[in-house]
Amino acid sequence: RKGGFPHYMLKEIYEQPQSFYETLRAGVDERVRNLVMEADEITLVACGTSYHTALVFKYLAESLCGIPVRVEMGSEFKYFTPPLHGLVIAVSQSGETADTIAALKMAKARNCPTLAITNMQGSTVTRIADETMLMRAGPEIGVAATKSYTAQLAALMQIVNLRCEGAFDDALSHAHLAIGDVLLQDVHEAVTLCSKAKHVFFVGRGPFYAVALEGALKMKEISYVHAEGYAAGELKHGPFALLTPETPVVAICTPGPTYGVMVSNIKEMKARRAPIIAIGVAGDTELPEIVDIFIPIPDTHLLVQVLTASVVLQLLAYHTACALERDVDKPRNLAKSVTVE
Ligand code: F6R
Repeated sequence: RKGGFPHYMLKEIYEQPQSFYETLRAGVDERVRNLVMEADEITLVACGTSYHTALVFKYLAESLCGIPVRVEMGSEFKYFTPPLHGLVIAVSQSGETADTIAALKMAKARNCPTLAITNMQGSTVTRIADETMLMRAGPEIGVAATKSYTAQLAALMQIVNLRCEGAFDDALSHAHLAIGDVLLQDVHEAVTLCSKAKHVFFVGRGPFYAVALEGALKMKEISYVHAEGYAAGELKHGPFALLTPETPVVAICTPGPTYGVMVSNIKEMKARRAPIIAIGVAGDTELPEIVDIFIPIPDTHLLVQVLTASVVLQLLAYHTACALERDVDKPRNLAKSVTVE
């Protein structure tokens, strides 16, 4: 059933080119399209990994299409409901997460139009929301979300693309190929470093901050190595005190407006003797000179870099967990879906 893979998680990581492509190919139906095009403000409610895809969406939708976006954790939203306007989107792989369901119900009660993005046809969120956008990830058995994360991004990036009048058609249509390329990326040097560490930081800026949060969550939940995701500029406001030669920092640093400031952040971290694992684009000649380990991703569109960098971090967490002989598909204390508040 694992198709020759040692774990479901690895199998599901490898299914991502297809699950991304299928979710994209399913498109956006007319009613969902209308909801999305009419929204002058969007609030997303989600938990865990789904919260991180929502955060990626916020950065992309606000910076690329200028729509105000708010992202709320399901568990907070119900008790501290913010003033609500516009479309509310619940993002949930299982469609059964109690906190996300509770938040969606609150949004309904306030008469907001609602949309569910889920992998499970007929799940509770689909019965509550006005409309559903179904991800085509197929069943995900590993407790850690992998292919459902990139399929959520496929759905959310389509919304960004719709609002930007198809500006990203070309980038999105090639994304599955780039995801396929990074599956072959060798991460063993970084795994050696992380599997010896007690603490690992993950940093990035903009959408890569959300990717860093997700990289840290994956590392924590399956390898049990303590990991923290930070916006790169925040590290010096406290966490710098924790940097030592024993605390590796995984930094995502790709071309664009934040490249220069990321490079100077990396130099500051190096000066505190933290080993740096950098994820940057292939062909970058500056970064490999200043970091300890350089992991290249294809030099593609920003949207695709978000996907490929995320997949590299999945591989890093997976192989670190294997090196530490953890129960990768069933991490301790965790369940696939959290149906209590
Ligand atoms: C982490 C993980 C969880 C889920 C969270 C929400 O790998 O799987 O953090 O993302 O429990 O689950 P859904 O998306 O089913 O609402």
